[in-house]
Amino acid sequence: MLSAQIILPCAAPCPTMALPVHMLLRHSLMMCLLLHSLVLMSFCLHHAATSCSRNCYCTESDGGGKTVRCSNLQLTEIPQDIPNDTRRVYLDFNHITAVPANAFAGLPHLVELDLSHNELSQLEPKAFRGLGSSLQFLDLSSNKLVKFNPEAFEGLRARANLTNNPWHCDCSLQMALPHVDLEPASLAGYSLPDFGS
Ligand SMILES: *[C@@H]1O[C@H](CO)[C@@H](O)[C@H](O)[C@H]1NC(C)=O
Ligand SMILES: *[C@@H]1O[C@H](CO)[C@@H](O)[C@H](O)[C@H]1NC(C)=O
Repeated sequence: MLSAQIILPCAAPCPTMALPVHMLLRHSLMMCLLLHSLVLMSFCLHHAATSCSRNCYCTESDGGGKTVRCSNLQLTEIPQDIPNDTRRVYLDFNHITAVPANAFAGLPHLVELDLSHNELSQLEPKAFRGLGSSLQFLDLSSNKLVKFNPEAFEGLRARANLTNNPWHCDCSLQMALPHVDLEPASLAGYSLPDFGS
């Protein structure tokens, strides 16, 4: 029978304690298995309860709003599995090149959308359709947007950051801007003519 000798540091001669190691081993193995399955179980439960877009990092705020962080993930496309109760999406610092039509149509509660620091060169018509009145802030700064396509912004009423794009400030941009329902602050920093209101 295996046994471990634990010598206690005593001044006086003290008795040695013999602990049956096989008991300890069996006990800790059981504990280990139990812990392992508990951890796995809670991970699975957690995942099911708070679904998140693959590879992204999700947090739930007290108000019930979900925040999905997919920043800096080398993404080339907008993920299609963003949970429908999401309030904020951070897709900044990726390599996304386009926003297709209805890309965010399944997200009726979205308040903030950050697409800054990507490689967006075009926004297809109806790109932001479905976001409607919930969206308050749209960040499209630091992309490669050249042509302003008012059809992309159809139905949107949000504060948008459009800075740091190689905009072609031609007539079409000037003609288009007054028809787009964006807040005036969107154009802060632009040396565009004042269209009046
Ligand atoms: C999200 O989608 C599920 C399943 O389609 C639906 O039951 C739920 O009501 C939706 N939630 C929101 C907040 O729209
Ligand atoms: C707009 O985007 C620029 C460039 O990314 C950033 O420096 C600036 O702080 C942003 N403005 C707002 C109001 O978020």
